[in-house]
Amino acid sequence: MSTPASSAQQFRTFLKCPLDLAAAGLRRPAVLLENAVICHRAAPVQSTHAAGIGCSRIDEARVAIASGKGGVGKSTTTANVAVALAKDPQLKIGILDADVFGPSQPRLFGLKGRPEASEAQKMIPLRNHSVQVMSMGFLLEEDAPAVWRGPMVMSAIDTLLQKVEWGALDLLLVDMPPGTGDVQISISQRMSLAGAVIVSTPQDLALIDARKGMAMFQKAGVSVLGMVENMSHYACPSCGHRDDIFGSQGAVAAAADYGIQVLGEVPLNTVIRQTSDDGMPVVLSDPSTPSAEAYMNIAARLKDMLSIDSI
Ligand SMILES: Nc1ncnc2c1ncn2[C@@H]1O[C@H](COP(=O)(O)OP(=O)(O)OP(=O)(O)O)[C@@H](O)[C@H]1O
Ligand SMILES: [Mg+2]
Ligand SMILES: [Zn+2]
Repeated sequence: MSTPASSAQQFRTFLKCPLDLAAAGLRRPAVLLENAVICHRAAPVQSTHAAGIGCSRIDEARVAIASGKGGVGKSTTTANVAVALAKDPQLKIGILDADVFGPSQPRLFGLKGRPEASEAQKMIPLRNHSVQVMSMGFLLEEDAPAVWRGPMVMSAIDTLLQKVEWGALDLLLVDMPPGTGDVQISISQRMSLAGAVIVSTPQDLALIDARKGMAMFQKAGVSVLGMVENMSHYACPSCGHRDDIFGSQGAVAAAADYGIQVLGEVPLNTVIRQTSDDGMPVVLSDPSTPSAEAYMNIAARLKDMLSIDSI
């Protein structure tokens, strides 16, 4: 004989997503749903519903930082933009390092160690430079090779999403693994993203790898907010002069072709690499350099585009 479900259980089963809520004439649930994958205010509700994914009340905007290929500066951009935004004490910023293959955020934030468990037995993100950071790098032994197959990647990503007690957040930046394959598409779909930023180098633009990244997000139903041209030009560390080694305005032309905006151009500069390796992003260590200013401008553009208000 089956036991009748409690009203709390029925509530949880019923209130799966905003479409169900709307049908029931209700607003967002005030409880965290069991087995919930998160949805947020700017998510494409239709696709969340179609995917049969439940929603929780977590309300931050989520933005992926991605690229068509590896090593173009996604993680560095994510870290600097997050720290730039977090300089505003009213804004609560988090980073989800979704690069389970080669997590970089622990190094970029100078963070080590295991997350502690909350009362609800969820992992508490580590924190530095006023940013909450969660990364598979905190859970793996250092130097342990992460050999993942597709389903394992998804379950690792689900763990990072659901088993983490993010504090109050206005914006969660998602540092994506390189590439545009199935793994990246499913991450994009599960995250209920408000949008994506494509990081590209000028060579990358020439090879139109950036286009692959944009096509991927289109397929996942995620809008591309704009492009960051990284290593756009060489900024001489001695005299500061600018050398457009790859020609100028390449990103602007390419972005116009794709119908998207350039959010900013970041110079190729030793200080960016050095400060990254030291766990102290350039926007904090050398805030008045052109490199730091480039990231701060990108952060400001993003904030405007997303209309992030503090909570
Ligand atoms: N503008 C820049 N000037 C100098 N060095 C940079 C710049 N941007 C990134 N780097 C350096 O380039 C390397 C790759 O950057 P990063 O790890 O951010 O790229 P990624 O796209 O996240 O790579 P992956 O695809 O492996 O995740 C790092 O050593 C970083 O310090
Ligand atoms: Mg990276
Ligand atoms: Zn010089």
